[in-house]
Amino acid sequence: MLDKINVENPQLFIHAFENAGIGMAIISLDGKLLKVNQSLCTSFGYTAEEVLHLSMKDLLHPDDLAIDKLIIQELTEGKRKSYQMERRYIHKDNHEIWAIMNVSLVRDENDQPRFYISQIQDISVQLRTVAKLRESEERYHRLVEESPDGVIILKEERCVFINKTGVELLGLSSKKDIIGRTIFDFIHKKDHKAYKKRDFCRESVGPLEKRFIRMDGKIITVELKAIPTTFRDEPAVHVNIRDISASKKAQELMINSEKLTIAGQLAAGIAHEVRNPLTAIKGFFQMMEKDVTENKLYFDVIGSEINRIEVILNELLLLAKPQEAKFEFKNIEVILNHVLTLLESQTNLNNIQIIKNIEPSIPLIKCDENQLKQVFINFLKNSIEAMPRGGMIHIDVLKQSPTSILIRIVDQGSGIPEHLLNRIGEPFFTTKEKGTGLGLMICKNIIEEHKGKIKIESSPSGTRIEIHFPTS
Ligand SMILES: Nc1ncnc2c1ncn2[C@@H]1O[C@H](COP(=O)(O)OP(=O)(O)O)[C@@H](O)[C@H]1O
Ligand SMILES: [Mg+2]
Repeated sequence: MLDKINVENPQLFIHAFENAGIGMAIISLDGKLLKVNQSLCTSFGYTAEEVLHLSMKDLLHPDDLAIDKLIIQELTEGKRKSYQMERRYIHKDNHEIWAIMNVSLVRDENDQPRFYISQIQDISVQLRTVAKLRESEERYHRLVEESPDGVIILKEERCVFINKTGVELLGLSSKKDIIGRTIFDFIHKKDHKAYKKRDFCRESVGPLEKRFIRMDGKIITVELKAIPTTFRDEPAVHVNIRDISASKKAQELMINSEKLTIAGQLAAGIAHEVRNPLTAIKGFFQMMEKDVTENKLYFDVIGSEINRIEVILNELLLLAKPQEAKFEFKNIEVILNHVLTLLESQTNLNNIQIIKNIEPSIPLIKCDENQLKQVFINFLKNSIEAMPRGGMIHIDVLKQSPTSILIRIVDQGSGIPEHLLNRIGEPFFTTKEKGTGLGLMICKNIIEEHKGKIKIESSPSGTRIEIHFPTS
């Protein structure tokens, strides 16, 4: 069959030219398009008729005309037989087309250049696909990198990837600290067995609760989820870890605070029981006091101490009561005085002097008295705790503007190191062995509820707290 076909038949070449899957063009020496095929028309958006009125310059990207000159020169001088390169063209509607171009110079029997023949393979679609793929890969990478959960990728239990959160979670100084190490270096020994039992490469597992050991030796509780994946074309496991230590601690604290409530209720009960006999003592004492002429001084002391016991009992009863916010107009000075009475024994014990300066005619502020007391107690207790060798605490109450007052507490304590300042008020952030790290958070919440503002400044010579409250 084949031998009957005349391969010299020009029809055959015309057929191959016209029906080629890539664009083909015959171009005159001065760049005119003499003949083009359908693929080329399709790629450039022109009809065959339109193309024949164009020259190569109309199809080439204007920035690449210089390259074209060079190609023509080298082909004409016979330095090269053909040229192949990836280059840009311009579509009829002006958008860029990327294509692989091949061009060669056809010469006649006297070796004189006659015309160029060029193949142009449009690769815009492929390039777009590659770009999309890269974009989606980048998106995946960003998602993993910015994930609020730690992500570790394991190949046969060895870490081959970790994200930013993972580095922070495990307290590493850089990603390099973990790459190549086995995950068992970071899992608590008691959890190894349970972890080994699972075949993570086959199925998704979790969430499981596991203990991890940070670089600094601290143990954290994490929720772990493992998903089979591939890494550089090989089977791997994507491990998600979420630190749940804080919520676990919160849970424990809730239980503790329940215990505290019970202790508070007990204290309130005792206060109540003590108040009754105290009322009787006070009554008889006042009756006796009238007739006393001797040792008058002793009686004055007994009288003022009885009053003090009464004040403290009343405060205990108030604070132990369930806290339901009750907003009323109150005098800030009266509230402060109550708090100072409560803290008196502590300030005396620690050799601390409280210097109070309250500007006259401070307007009343709408507040919940008990909550505000809690705020002052928390701030002052922190100040007292920061001054183990004693000193002074200044409390100023000033009219700030017609609609706000300023309460300033300045202590001479050890101060809050600058790098910790922005963590202040974070729940559970404490530098004290027996601290809860809840005091300032509670203060912040209460002040916000009162539409107030708080500012904390600190230096190694002391801390200054400013609270602004609206008065209307
Ligand atoms: N007046 C202060 N002087 C120095 N440090 C302070 C002061 N107030 C707060 N801090 C720091 O802020 C941390 C958090 O305080 P807080 O929330 O009251 O919790 P806690 O007192 O239980 O530690 C303290 O542990 C301490 O490091
Ligand atoms: Mg505190």
